[in-house]
Amino acid sequence: MTTLADKPTTDLSLDEIKLGDIEVWMRPDREAIFAKLRDEAPITFHAEPLFEPAPGEEMLFEAVKGAGFWAMTRFDDVLTVSRDPDTFRSTPSINIGDIPPAIAEWLGSMINMDSPKHTKLRLIVNRGFTPRQVARIEEDVHRQAAEIVDSVAGVGECDFVNDIAAILPLQVICDMLGIPREDNHRIFELTNTILGVGDPEYVSSGIELMSAGMELFNYGLALAEDRLANPRDDITTSLMMAEIEDENGKHKLTSAELGSFFLLLVAAGNETTRNAISHGMLALTQHRRQREIWAADFANVSPTAVEEIVRWATPVIHFRRTASRDTVVGGQAIKQGDKCVMFYNSANRDERKFENPFNFNVLRSPNEHVGFGAGGPHFCLGANLARREISVMFEELFRRLPDIEISGEPAMLQSAFIHGIKRMPCTFTPAK
Ligand code: HEM
Repeated sequence: MTTLADKPTTDLSLDEIKLGDIEVWMRPDREAIFAKLRDEAPITFHAEPLFEPAPGEEMLFEAVKGAGFWAMTRFDDVLTVSRDPDTFRSTPSINIGDIPPAIAEWLGSMINMDSPKHTKLRLIVNRGFTPRQVARIEEDVHRQAAEIVDSVAGVGECDFVNDIAAILPLQVICDMLGIPREDNHRIFELTNTILGVGDPEYVSSGIELMSAGMELFNYGLALAEDRLANPRDDITTSLMMAEIEDENGKHKLTSAELGSFFLLLVAAGNETTRNAISHGMLALTQHRRQREIWAADFANVSPTAVEEIVRWATPVIHFRRTASRDTVVGGQAIKQGDKCVMFYNSANRDERKFENPFNFNVLRSPNEHVGFGAGGPHFCLGANLARREISVMFEELFRRLPDIEISGEPAMLQSAFIHGIKRMPCTFTPAK
């Protein structure tokens, strides 16, 4: 079990811990803050908002302001909320703030829905992400990872995030959706903006956020239009061909459904895996022994190493649910309509669940982390794909650049939602 020496500490008192305040998220003692909450006050109420509208934009975001939220920090409580979708709903939003009506059309994808609509929409894309489908694109993923490493191999140094980690997930999801290569960079910039809310480097105003969302949404619609005339073997074509049955009878996806699907897939498909790979490289630099263990027996250690990277990184920090009735979680009364936020980062360090959770251990087993969600109908659709991408990327890195290491401080994304690294230098002996 965790020893006192491993366990981080904070000098903040419980009253001073305000999870709705973005400053808390930039503190170096973030792990310690959550350890304190888990031990002393596992479910606490916090004020909103995390996102301050720019001057003049207050009206636009008026509807988003909520009364506050419950923070679930223990593993067991996160599981309780995630696995009871009747009591803990994903509508109206899985973000802490509700979706402003002005952008609800393009942000209202299946991740913000409950059954039966969620189930119907999920079935449509499910087929693109089964282990068999992922195995089918395996060769492609390998080739792309090799090309990415080739492109930097001769130089001896680069930015690990932008030159290596970001590219594979971006190319894979763009290829799956049928997005031409020349547009990949613009997609990258737009998803950075959408998931960079809270970090002034990416989003300085709500208008900027809205126009990025709108551009992606419209891009998806245009691509889908093209696939109507020119069907191909890609997910966009299957979305165009799919039929859904709801209160309006049987029909093709509406443009709103289609555009927001597209937005969800590109955003979810590339920001998360990029950060898992980046945090993984940082951890392997800081924990030499773990790297040696993995490199010495790559294929056999990969399954546990990849899960440990996802636990360690927890690229998605939280998702929210909304109580549909009065209930009790972990002894805490929750009222109908209350927002309940599952802090996956904290559940993944819960000393009650994980032995030595602050140790990075590529052989950890069992490792029932909640990095891809804590179970329930919204469990990450891309988990199999992400696992393959992470494994293949490290396989290529270990093979071609065996001494690659992070050589400077990471620039962290200012966010309570995405555990992101924006930039991080790396060095290695140049290879041919
Ligand atoms: C390491 C990488 C990834 C992490 C950590 C991650 C994490 C998550 C989490 C925490 C959820 C919410 C689960 C829940 O509410 O129960 C989720 C949902 C989702 N993820 Fe991932 N994800 C990753 C990669 C991907 C990839 C590569 C894709 C591919 C497109 C993807 C697509 C999705 C989609 C579509 C959903 C919504 C599913 C639904 O609402 O039914 N994710 N992911």
